[in-house]
Amino acid sequence: MTPVGVIGSGLMGSGIAEVFARAGRRVLVHEVTEDAARRGRDRIASSLARAVCSGKLEQDQSAQVLDRITVGTDLTALAEAELVVEAATEDEGLKTELFRQLDATLVREDAVLASNTSSIPIMKLGKATQRPEQVVGMHFFNPVPVLPLVEVVPSLFTSPATVQRVEVVAQDELGKTVIRAQDRAGFIVNALLVPYLLSAVRVLESGYAYASAADVDAGMVRGCAHPMGPLQLSDLIGLDTVVAITNSMYEEFKEPLYSPPPMLLRMVEGGLLGRKTGRGFYEYDRH
Ligand SMILES: NC(=O)c1ccc[n+]([C@@H]2O[C@H](COP(=O)([O-])OP(=O)(O)OC[C@H]3O[C@@H](n4cnc5c(N)ncnc54)[C@H](O)[C@@H]3O)[C@@H](O)[C@H]2O)c1
Repeated sequence: MTPVGVIGSGLMGSGIAEVFARAGRRVLVHEVTEDAARRGRDRIASSLARAVCSGKLEQDQSAQVLDRITVGTDLTALAEAELVVEAATEDEGLKTELFRQLDATLVREDAVLASNTSSIPIMKLGKATQRPEQVVGMHFFNPVPVLPLVEVVPSLFTSPATVQRVEVVAQDELGKTVIRAQDRAGFIVNALLVPYLLSAVRVLESGYAYASAADVDAGMVRGCAHPMGPLQLSDLIGLDTVVAITNSMYEEFKEPLYSPPPMLLRMVEGGLLGRKTGRGFYEYDRH
């Protein structure tokens, strides 16, 4: 099988690389710095170690999966990939520039460029390339090895053949459930989820009923049987990512519901991004 490229080895890129490698693919991951690449490798190794501990993977299989993944800082290493899934930071300028560079780097004319963006229009990413009919959204969920959903998002230019190719990969190779979404900020899941997360921040911000973060979360876990509370979930997603998604949704629809609460903005400005930085609504041990 030809290799798959992944851009970024943060929360999502590392998970996407892992599921492709577990499905037997060779995976070439691109990162910006050696330090970020090392963190990405460590993240994948820890996730595989957890899978071994919980009996979902044998030790020798885990080693084989790791062997299939290369994380580096040279974009041209991805030249032979037939599919690249971009999972870099949610920043429109950064992603459009990456798509322009990838389009120039990939040697296979039929190579598909997919983005894991949560909210940036696929149309804008497609227009940055000379192959908009081969650009598509492939939106995974965190943690990628655990959650079975992929939203496939065609732009107005994406060809049916491209949509079919990524659906086959997601369903048949990775064993994921695919739903198709329109190229609108938030797609399906975040259009429903993000206003709920923002409402939880507003409840906390307003001091409503003297609620602490733990009270707000317990309300939804114990009262509504959610597996995790909204503030805990925001910390898991990354508060910078939540703000980036809500900004895109607000820009698109101008709904007050989608405007980011000041508390969330201040936390992101302060670098309190949730689990990935060790502090968000809660504090975490980073090791
Ligand atoms: N966090 C979630 O729950 C979630 C869920 C679905 C989709 N997404 C989307 O996935 C993407 C990545 O999110 P994340 O949570 O993994 O973020 P993250 O901050 O954990 O990781 C982003 C990674 O991208 C790397 N990066 C930045 N610029 C790069 C470049 N030019 N080339 C290569 N790598 C680069 C960074 O070094 C970092 O390792 C975003 O588009 C986000 O909206 C996130």
